Amino acid sequence: MRSLITILGLLTQFTTAATCNGHDELCDRQYSNITFVGSHNSAFVGYLPVDNQFTSVADQLSQGVRFLQAQTHDKDGTVELCHTSCLEEDAGSLEGYLVMVKTFLDSNADEVVTLLLTNGDGIAGADFAGVFEAAGIDSYAYSPGSNLALAEWPTLGELISAGTRLVVFMDYPADDAVSYILDEFTSVVNSPLISSHNSTTDASFPQCSIDRPSGASASGRMYLVNHYLDTEIFGIDIPNAAAAATTNSASSILAQANLCAGLYRRNPNFIILDWISVGDAIAVQNELNGVS
Ligand SMILES: *[C@@H]1O[C@H](CO)[C@@H](O)[C@H](O)[C@H]1NC(C)=O
Ligand SMILES: *[C@@H]1O[C@H](CO)[C@@H](O)[C@H](O)[C@H]1NC(C)=O
Repeated sequence: MRSLITILGLLTQFTTAATCNGHDELCDRQYSNITFVGSHNSAFVGYLPVDNQFTSVADQLSQGVRFLQAQTHDKDGTVELCHTSCLEEDAGSLEGYLVMVKTFLDSNADEVVTLLLTNGDGIAGADFAGVFEAAGIDSYAYSPGSNLALAEWPTLGELISAGTRLVVFMDYPADDAVSYILDEFTSVVNSPLISSHNSTTDASFPQCSIDRPSGASASGRMYLVNHYLDTEIFGIDIPNAAAAATTNSASSILAQANLCAGLYRRNPNFIILDWISVGDAIAVQNELNGVS
């Protein structure tokens, strides 16, 4: 009995060490061949019209979310998480946010997390590097050294063994001063950028066209799908919290993912949602990755 317990204990340890983002099967799979269902505007948490999420970033990570998108702005020299402007919504400093992500990485050694930062104010790479260093998270960040083709991405297991468990993309880096801030549009295509009025408010998510960068094709690139719904109030589009359960249901997300897969012959790499705590985000992620 005692030796059986010992063996079970060893097996458990072995299994734990061979698990990547919760699934053994993902250890040998290339990062570029994995679907991540992530949170759009992950830092804007609350019940106001400017919010996109109900739960904190720490809770999103606990839920199993491994792809976080966040908007950065320059607030008097501080890199701040603000919604369009810091007067509209100020969710605190990027440093405070990164400290939360680091806390998660520190205590979850078999997990890889991706950040997609937007840089609407053109903040310099060195300023971002300063924030990553102040948060103590820079040593986790993955630097490929060059632009990777789809087939060149490491597996999750390789990222975990190397201790480089944070992948950082930025939509518009101001420069290439920081080796771990990866230019989103050399490797990812945004599809579709939900700024066109009729696509944001159409609950059927009828399209998966590539619109950023303009004229680009998904061929040879990872691609991102925006799956969040707005509603119009007094002529302004705001996140549709009331529809979250429907928008984030497996049937709604999978319908758009299948539409995309039909066009591009492989599943989306990233699907981002508002109100990710509602609905079937992680179940859909598992289904698209063929894991249970
Ligand atoms: C509305 O959607 C249609 C079909 O997806 C598209 O062709 C058209 O360009 C869109 N209009 C706007 C204003 O985005
Ligand atoms: C991963 O590869 C499999 C097999 O080719 C494919 O069916 C799936 O769509 C790919 N997923 C992604 C995200 O590339």
